[in-house]
Amino acid sequence: MIKIERLIKEDIPQVVLLEEELLGDSLGVEMLENEINNTSICFLTAKDNKKVLGYIGAYVIEGEMEILNFVVDKAHQRSGIGTLLFNELLKRYPNTLSIILEVRENNEQGINFYKKNNFNVISKRKHYYKNGDDALVMMKEII
Ligand SMILES: CC(C)(COP(=O)(O)OP(=O)(O)OC[C@H]1O[C@@H](n2cnc3c(N)ncnc32)[C@H](O)[C@@H]1OP(=O)(O)O)[C@@H](O)C(=O)NCCC(=O)NCCS
Repeated sequence: MIKIERLIKEDIPQVVLLEEELLGDSLGVEMLENEINNTSICFLTAKDNKKVLGYIGAYVIEGEMEILNFVVDKAHQRSGIGTLLFNELLKRYPNTLSIILEVRENNEQGINFYKKNNFNVISKRKHYYKNGDDALVMMKEII
């Protein structure tokens, strides 16, 4: 059974591997260990027993949320785990008024996910990523 819970220290190495594999980059063990108890940041994992299948991280400050990283293990994608993580994040912060994030312009999967969850593209950041890719800035307002 898949459980969504706050990131714990022993799961950080699995999260770093997931980020590196799927995003080509990671926040890194050190940053995650430093930020794990930061009350302005929420990191959630989706786990099957001790195996981390997905992960979402967000800054949350006074009703404004910014999604930092969001990944689901390739073999388990498109089975609803991303939706479980995203919904749990929103459930834990019922006072959220807006959510913002950057997504690579060619990331069809990610963009589809956010569109399905009522995000709109509000702007574009040119050459935002290390390899020169542009980012779309997407936002969801909760009324
Ligand atoms: C984006 C991501 C986290 C979504 O997680 P997921 O568990 O696959 O998502 P879900 O199964 O809950 O899918 C929800 C919706 O997302 C969209 N989606 C997910 N995977 C998709 C794919 N391969 N192609 C197109 N749309 C897709 C669909 O709208 C889907 O709804 P549907 O299945 O009813 O059509 C996951 O695909 C992922 O890890 N991608 C690689 C990393 C990434 O791009 N992260 C976001 C960067 S900001």
